[in-house]
Amino acid sequence: MDYFNYQQDGQLWAEEVALTELAEQYGTPLYVYSRATLERHWHAFDHAVADQPHLICYAVKANSNLGVLNVLARLGSGFDIVSQGELERVIAAGGDPAKVVFSGVGKTSAEMKRALELGIKCFNVESESELARLNRVAGELGVVAPISLRINPDVDAKTHPYISTGLRENKFGIAFDRAPVVYRLAHSLPNLKVTGMDCHIGSQLTDIDPFIDATDRLLALIDELHSEGIIIEHLDVGGGLGVTYNEEQPPLPSEYARALLDRLKNHQQLELIFEPGRAIAANAGVLLTRVEYLKHTEHKNFAIIDAAMNDLIRPTLYQAWQDIVPVIPREGEPSEYDFVGPICETGDYLGKERLLCLAEGDLLAVRSAGAYGFVMSSNYNTRARAAEIMVDGDTAHVVREREPLAQLWQSESLLP
Ligand code: LLP
Repeated sequence: MDYFNYQQDGQLWAEEVALTELAEQYGTPLYVYSRATLERHWHAFDHAVADQPHLICYAVKANSNLGVLNVLARLGSGFDIVSQGELERVIAAGGDPAKVVFSGVGKTSAEMKRALELGIKCFNVESESELARLNRVAGELGVVAPISLRINPDVDAKTHPYISTGLRENKFGIAFDRAPVVYRLAHSLPNLKVTGMDCHIGSQLTDIDPFIDATDRLLALIDELHSEGIIIEHLDVGGGLGVTYNEEQPPLPSEYARALLDRLKNHQQLELIFEPGRAIAANAGVLLTRVEYLKHTEHKNFAIIDAAMNDLIRPTLYQAWQDIVPVIPREGEPSEYDFVGPICETGDYLGKERLLCLAEGDLLAVRSAGAYGFVMSSNYNTRARAAEIMVDGDTAHVVREREPLAQLWQSESLLP
């Protein structure tokens, strides 16, 4: 559920703010987020596991705007990060480093050092080489690094191949069969402390079974290690819970949590960590865009809009379907349109073969754009990135200004 709804005036609103007003004031393309929706989604996870020790570590990569991070930090959220950049954002947004878990296959020594200095909760280590490096960096600083091993449980998440991460052939994690050996190694290294176990099998999962299969495998491993005196204090099940873009019916956080807690009956002391990104942010944002031109050809109708693949690349990159709706619906006969941007690529589209009744100048909302939207945007074709707005009740806050054009080349130089 989200707080983008058509109100009695027939227009689409974000909470108590009309989207038309935001477009007038701040221009398009424009990302608009809803604070109430972000908070609702975060609480859905937090409440669902209230009876188990737990921490919700929002996956910063999904939407790393400081305003978004700040809203979640105020709820007491933890954060899942994959770079020093994301760590610095969390700090700048008022997040608590003691609630940060650090994922990713390629952590540099400098990143490890900074995270150790700030005292993060855990490093989710993805290889034996990384373990050795972390042990060295922690030793140089004279501290002990808390670690979890990311286990690759080899389960099929049944999602798009680009966002499936828990299969043997993926680059992520440590092979399930090798895990005991690597845990023993970690346990023996002087500057590391084994505290957890983690996995992340993929994104936009719409079925609970792969999550449960992975959890079962990890719990068996936790028990095996326990018998050797290696105590796992937290189980981090990653992110990946899907959302409804079209007709998908992903499980609710409460349903997912119920299935997990059922498996954790014999592990009531185990702290459960979630790393949700999309499930918190996707439906908490829309991308507002205006129809510049309508172009009717013999074969197709094109709605040429002012947002493009540089603003939202998911349709182009993953053939992802995102709903495109009019902010003020028109009466009349709908026509079939491809929604394309101004970028010089055939792949520049946000939606294809959609039935809508349109006129030039109409304002549209691309829904479910709060996750992997702005964060994946680029300056391709020297287009300035969109502004971002956070709506909170009847108030709109600019949480990122539209990029001034000159800023795009300010770090470049002419030859002497
Ligand atoms: N934890 C780890 C270690 C991850 O790699 C990811 C996402 C998450 C958590 C959060 O997953 P989520 O709850 O958002 O599914 N750009 C793609 C999604 C890439 C996801 C990468 N990893 C898209 O737009 O669909």
